[in-house]
Amino acid sequence: MNNFPESVRVVEVSARDGLQNEKQALPATIKIELIDRLGESGLSTIEVSSFVSPRWVPQLADAAEVMAGIRKKPGVRYPVLAPNEKGMRRAMAAGAGEVAVFAAASETFSQKNTNASIAESLQRIETVMSLAKENNLPVRGYLSCVLGCPYEGDIDLSAVAELADRLARMGCYEISLGDTIGVGTPLAAQNMLTTVAEKVPMKNLAIHFHDTRGQALANIFACLELGVSVIDASVAGLGGCPYAKGASGNVASEDLVYLLHGMGIETGIDLDALTDAGLFICQHLDRMPGSRLGQIKWRLQH
Ligand code: HMG
Ligand code: MG
Repeated sequence: MNNFPESVRVVEVSARDGLQNEKQALPATIKIELIDRLGESGLSTIEVSSFVSPRWVPQLADAAEVMAGIRKKPGVRYPVLAPNEKGMRRAMAAGAGEVAVFAAASETFSQKNTNASIAESLQRIETVMSLAKENNLPVRGYLSCVLGCPYEGDIDLSAVAELADRLARMGCYEISLGDTIGVGTPLAAQNMLTTVAEKVPMKNLAIHFHDTRGQALANIFACLELGVSVIDASVAGLGGCPYAKGASGNVASEDLVYLLHGMGIETGIDLDALTDAGLFICQHLDRMPGSRLGQIKWRLQH
């Protein structure tokens, strides 16, 4: 028995997860044009940037400038990442209407990514949450390494479910479950999602697959069968975490939307405009898109 949703909300992460992992830092004007093009394609959630330490992620040091430059479309959400109080205050000063916090199910990855243990990172998140509550800002929670860690290998699923539950109880309206290094396969993904959904309702869960081993769409299909209806993706398949050894691109938004539309699942997204946004950013990165749909168009143009 499958439980496919009628519609899916795609959370577009290329301007954040994508550009944080590029060697070259693009000018703010290009990032702004990417985000505006993504907005025109009909996406309803577009992550803009991260208010993390510019020493840790120099590629996104211009987060405030990008926030100030984008044309915010009514009805579209433009979240930013905020790892701690300093990041949250910077995000609020830049006019963010929504933020995302991030924690990991692996101690070693938590340490490498945030210079903090899991417990310490949850304390920082508490501070972000209380500022968010005072200012009426919704907070999304990311949980990384849910299907494996680049440093520790297998991850205990009960720990994943507990942490997801913890983030939800702290006030995150949605928990995005990250296969940070793309090690998952479909049955493992289903098993993980079922375990977490015993603690956090499916409607409050999102999935975030990196495509390192070419499993992302298969994993997503398996999770759609269980009824998940929020999926993170990145145009041109950009993405990766600089502090997760071996992580590569996210599932490509264009290929995901092609799959969803083919299954009769609504997204509200214009596939052509989305693919063109991916081509636009790849022209500025001087390379071919990682998405299959993008590659077809790229070859016709070059
Ligand atoms: P730290 O060095 O431990 O911070 O970094 P600290 O509190 O000791 O402060 C050191 C200095 O940094 C101070 O400056 C602070 O003011 C400054 P100084 O006094 O030396 O001049 N600082 C900041 N500056 C600007 N903005 C801030 C900020 N915080 C401190 N927010 C920290 C701790 C968490 C900040 C750092 O480790 C960091 O920025 N990490 C972020 C790494 C990152 O962005 N990773 C990628 C995002 S997560 C991801 O990609 C996974 C995901 O996609 C899901 C998945 O795929 O699984 C979401
Ligand atoms: Mg990611």
